[in-house]
Amino acid sequence: MARKYFSLLARFLCLALTLLPLGAVAENLVPPPETTTAIAARRSVSASEIMIATANPLASEAGFAVLQAGGSAADAAVAAQMMLNLVEPQSSGIGGGAFLVYWDAETETLTSYDGRETAPAAATPDYWLGPDGAPIPFRQAVAGGRSVGVPGTLKVFELLHTAHGRLPWADLFEPTIDKAEAGFPISRRLATAIADAPDLADFPVARGYFFHTDGTPKPEGEILANPDFAATLRVIAAEGSTPFYEGPIGARIVEAARTAVNPGMMTRADLAAYQAKERIPVCLDYRVWEVCGMGPPSSGALTVGQILGILSAFDLTAIGDTPQAAHLFIEASKLAFADRARYMADADFVDMPTEGLLDPAYLGARARLIDPLRTMGVATAGEPPREHPEEFTSDRPRPRKGTSQLVIKDRFGDMVTATTTIETGFGSRVMVDGFLLNNEMTDFSFVPEENGVPVANRVEGGKRPRSSMAPTVVLHRGAPVLLTGSPGGANIIPYVAQALIAMLDWNLDPQVAIDLPHVVNRNGDTEVEEGPEAAALIAALSARGHVAEAADLNSGLQVIQIDGPLLRGATDKRREGLVLGE
Ligand code: DON
Repeated sequence: MARKYFSLLARFLCLALTLLPLGAVAENLVPPPETTTAIAARRSVSASEIMIATANPLASEAGFAVLQAGGSAADAAVAAQMMLNLVEPQSSGIGGGAFLVYWDAETETLTSYDGRETAPAAATPDYWLGPDGAPIPFRQAVAGGRSVGVPGTLKVFELLHTAHGRLPWADLFEPTIDKAEAGFPISRRLATAIADAPDLADFPVARGYFFHTDGTPKPEGEILANPDFAATLRVIAAEGSTPFYEGPIGARIVEAARTAVNPGMMTRADLAAYQAKERIPVCLDYRVWEVCGMGPPSSGALTVGQILGILSAFDLTAIGDTPQAAHLFIEASKLAFADRARYMADADFVDMPTEGLLDPAYLGARARLIDPLRTMGVATAGEPPREHPEEFTSDRPRPRKGTSQLVIKDRFGDMVTATTTIETGFGSRVMVDGFLLNNEMTDFSFVPEENGVPVANRVEGGKRPRSSMAPTVVLHRGAPVLLTGSPGGANIIPYVAQALIAMLDWNLDPQVAIDLPHVVNRNGDTEVEEGPEAAALIAALSARGHVAEAADLNSGLQVIQIDGPLLRGATDKRREGLVLGE
């Protein structure tokens, strides 16, 4: 949330873009049919049939070419994800996990797909405890095979393609195979990430790929070829995911994860047992919209939903983008993060009060805990309605870096929003067959219990670590009006919630909405995005009792807004994404 004058500027920009009075921009984002042509002619955005926004121009181009060739959103998602693996290897890829939310226009249904990593079967709750019984430091846990969860990205994209693909699977790999063989220019973001990750050079395969032989990091603009990845993708293009989960690629993954430092315990049986899962999306009625996303094992939709559900008690449209809105957003975030820490984990393992957490009466009661004039300090978890009360102790949050986001709409009306990750930048640093393996095991709680009371998100064999990823679809009268999502670790939740408030409550153009300076609070101190407005907002929040400081809040939001027949795309200025539409 920004200060008032920023809001006025944003609204002015929005107004200038639309050349319409604000009131004429449809309250529900779906203008009546007779006005849409006029808006298309007067608004400086492309009226489009197809659109894609991803975190990297080469990935957007790969997906867009698929859409232009008559491919589906699912086809484009596969092509874009493979390209992201090549050109943004630090963030996502087949060595990691992903969540997808998919709109099927023909059946008018929303489905979510869970490609989250799983813990090896042999993993036990003391996984992250050192010999002294204390949790080992996070940084020490990341690098090496022990942090690697059984990867799910390839399986979940294959599942999506089997269900909704139109073009042949093999064709979707060609652009990335070509680029991996010919080489691609290292982007600024990748170059910076290599230079900022000195421990990457401790891992010989990664060192050989990302560093020169004299040890210097490869710089922006240098052409980087990845023949190992091209060879891997050729096999997967021809044979599907089987060689990865049950064949020679899998054997090499297991071998690579047995690093000298922090050796992993993943076996070939763990890989063979991996399943991507179709799950019912988690949805919340928010004013005139339905906000839907990824349920457990992600905490994304539930925590975003709790923040919005709590804020339903306040007229955010009237309050506008002001320090008061920031105060309410922080308080709602604290309450939601308190519940997240206590209750949210893999619901296949833990008896989670999924419905109770979004119960309107419960959220109304939580909203009444907010003092409009003063912060509550630290929030405590509530008691959501639930059938089988199980005692959990809360875990502790930790910030992360990495991850990628894509949003796609095809000419058939099908849409997908995907958040995909190898967890922290460069994941476990373990590289095999041209791709990096994740460190998603560090998304589990390092502390398994306190005073005999278990943490819901403790490590267990076969369990999926709790995520914050929040690929989101907003529906109005049963049809999608917004697709969004972001990287950012646990900050994904406030990034997405804030973008939704800006687009829904403040009716801001998507680009203006995601450009707003962020404010995040995960039930601790508040962080306000660095920038010209930060000092004044911090002062206004301090007056309400908040402890707030400026921080680099590096979201990577992507948005497609479906406004009748119009598509408006937006990509986060904080990263190097590209929107393409036609
Ligand atoms: O699943 C999660 O919530 C995290 N592993 C995502 C990590 C992330 O977004 C890092 N981003 N910049």
